[in-house]
Amino acid sequence: GRTAGSQAGPAVLSCRVAFRGCSSPSAGPCICPCLEFDLATNLVGQPLVRQQVMKGVREFLENPNPVKPLVMSFHGSTGTGKTYVSSMLIRYLFQRGLQSPYVHHFSPIVHFPHAEQIEQYKESLKHWIQGNLTNCGRSAFLFDEMDKMHPGLIDVIIPFLGPSWVVYGTNYRKAIFIFISNAGGEQINNVTLALWRARKDREEISLQDLEPAISKAVFENPQSGFWKSGIINEHLIDFVVPFLPLKHHHVKQCVVSELVQQGLEVRPGVVQEVADSIPYFPEEEKLFSSTGCKTVASRISFFF
Ligand SMILES: Nc1ncnc2c1ncn2[C@@H]1O[C@H](COP(=O)(O)OP(=O)(O)OP(=O)(O)O)[C@@H](O)[C@H]1O
Ligand SMILES: [Mg+2]
Repeated sequence: GRTAGSQAGPAVLSCRVAFRGCSSPSAGPCICPCLEFDLATNLVGQPLVRQQVMKGVREFLENPNPVKPLVMSFHGSTGTGKTYVSSMLIRYLFQRGLQSPYVHHFSPIVHFPHAEQIEQYKESLKHWIQGNLTNCGRSAFLFDEMDKMHPGLIDVIIPFLGPSWVVYGTNYRKAIFIFISNAGGEQINNVTLALWRARKDREEISLQDLEPAISKAVFENPQSGFWKSGIINEHLIDFVVPFLPLKHHHVKQCVVSELVQQGLEVRPGVVQEVADSIPYFPEEEKLFSSTGCKTVASRISFFF
């Protein structure tokens, strides 16, 4: 687990990745085994997420001089674990996790609400990133709800994502950028369903089955923050991370974890009832949860 806090060092840290250390001392400074274990035990039904995130993080952290920043994009429908995984990752990388001064979280509704101010947003976003990378090259930038971002805005960060040596006099190749969106979720769900109908196991779904559909969907959808974006066109995303729709038995696992976390007794009847109370699609087969595990926590109280 996540018990490395006691070895975490001073509260205000020098500017670097705050490796939290592992509970097992032999693991050394590498967070990878801990992150991998956490993902393997706590993230349900997302084999590709585990694979892609670990690949990205491992390559990036093992390289003392990365040629470009790590850019990952999380896609999937609601409640499939995008926010959950991004905060888990950040917690391993930075002391104080999302509260770290080196972690910057953008939400379009909060930070860029007015379409008519897009030019101002472009300037301030560029300056914000530039300033923070000058201050700390090991910064992380999370762009949540990319589908609510005004198209065109995100392209101002293109210079920070590529492999050039420096931009505006700053080495920015140790930064991490994570985009999160529901865009592509429908395509992921359709492919997963089609493969299920073709009797292909969920674990057999490959990135190649999904990535082209996701890229196409986000690039061609005017409702997506990546609409006609150079970020897609110039292939600046290193790791596309698809979150598959969750099935009934995954939801049950979420219910169990939630009960344990709330200190409640795990009664099979309750687990079943909570999982049954969630809507599933498609209409006939009722295979996948329409809200993933999102409403699990709030539903539990109704069944206790
Ligand atoms: N694959 C999963 N494995 C374990 N728990 C999950 C998973 N997906 C979701 N959960 C649980 O459900 C909660 C809600 O999920 P999360 O906030 O990560 O969804 P999301 O993909 O970000 O959805 P949205 O697109 O609506 O933002 C999480 O806090 C976690 O407890
Ligand atoms: Mg989310």
